[in-house]
Amino acid sequence: MATVAEILGTKYPLIQGSMARISRHELVIAVSNAGGLGVLTSAGFDKEELRAEIRRVKAGTDKPFAVNLMLMMDNIPDLVDVIIEERVPVVTTGAGTPKPYMPAFKAAGVKVIPVIPSVKVAKKMADLGAVAVVAEGMESGGHIGGTTTMALVPQVANAIDIPVIAAGGIGDGRGVVAAYALGAQGIQVGTVFLAADETPVADAFKQAILAADDTATAVTGQRIGAPVRTIKNAMIAKYLELENAGASFAELESLTMASLSKAVFDGDVENGSVMAGEIAGMVNSKRPVKDIIEGLFNEAEAVVKNLKITY
Ligand SMILES: Cc1cc2nc3c(=O)[nH]c(=O)nc-3n(C[C@H](O)[C@H](O)[C@H](O)COP(=O)(O)O)c2cc1C
Repeated sequence: MATVAEILGTKYPLIQGSMARISRHELVIAVSNAGGLGVLTSAGFDKEELRAEIRRVKAGTDKPFAVNLMLMMDNIPDLVDVIIEERVPVVTTGAGTPKPYMPAFKAAGVKVIPVIPSVKVAKKMADLGAVAVVAEGMESGGHIGGTTTMALVPQVANAIDIPVIAAGGIGDGRGVVAAYALGAQGIQVGTVFLAADETPVADAFKQAILAADDTATAVTGQRIGAPVRTIKNAMIAKYLELENAGASFAELESLTMASLSKAVFDGDVENGSVMAGEIAGMVNSKRPVKDIIEGLFNEAEAVVKNLKITY
């Protein structure tokens, strides 16, 4: 079987998880140039906006990169056309099935890697012709499933014959080794890049990540079936209060409307949505993306060398 790095065409078996509003060309270029797979968000973009971002990425790197499709968006057919026209080598998908687009991607040689929360969905995606899956545990930042990385990854690895890439809660070399020990052959990380030098977010957003500890995040939206992990703040406290009081979907939605942009672009980390994973407590300094990626794999090698199970 081809390794994940061979499938991606990268130096490292590492995917930078797509992050709505955040994984724009600056971060994608930095990750791909550092030997990982940068993943461009397409959330909120129309066809020509996505094309412009793809071209900015191509101007900044000659290395492979991907575009992420959140499949519940209503302009997916347009975005698929641009991805194929621009010869993007890899697509990651979430929030729906890529089934209608698989024939077109296959014909164009675009590799599809769905992000999945369960064994059931992993099997479906393998049957559809995905080249690998990202098994994403609920430790992750942003929209999450219900199973932890620790429990999800080995069960998915047992169930399918294509490579499994682990996501959720990976913050250093120990996390990388743990992912491999569970049966993964690669990693996807998001939170570790949130305070990176090249990440195009407001400084206050980065400071909120640096200040976070191990219990800094909360999950909202459980009751409406759309759980999201963010750093706790005034908006999240209000949301949880309303959610516990049985507020309507519309009321809850009005609170979170454009809240990610508020945090990412305006730096309003009290009223905006500071999406981040549980591993945010281990992000303690602003560093270049290259240092972060090399650090993960150098540390992993040292961890493997010193690993001993003692009785
Ligand atoms: C701020 C933020 C935004 C995210 N937005 C998306 C998104 O738009 N689409 C998606 O598939 N995953 C999204 N994710 C999940 C990441 O792609 C990735 O799987 C996750 O961050 C991995 O877990 P970690 O945060 O523990 O590293 C987001 C994560 C964060 C932290």
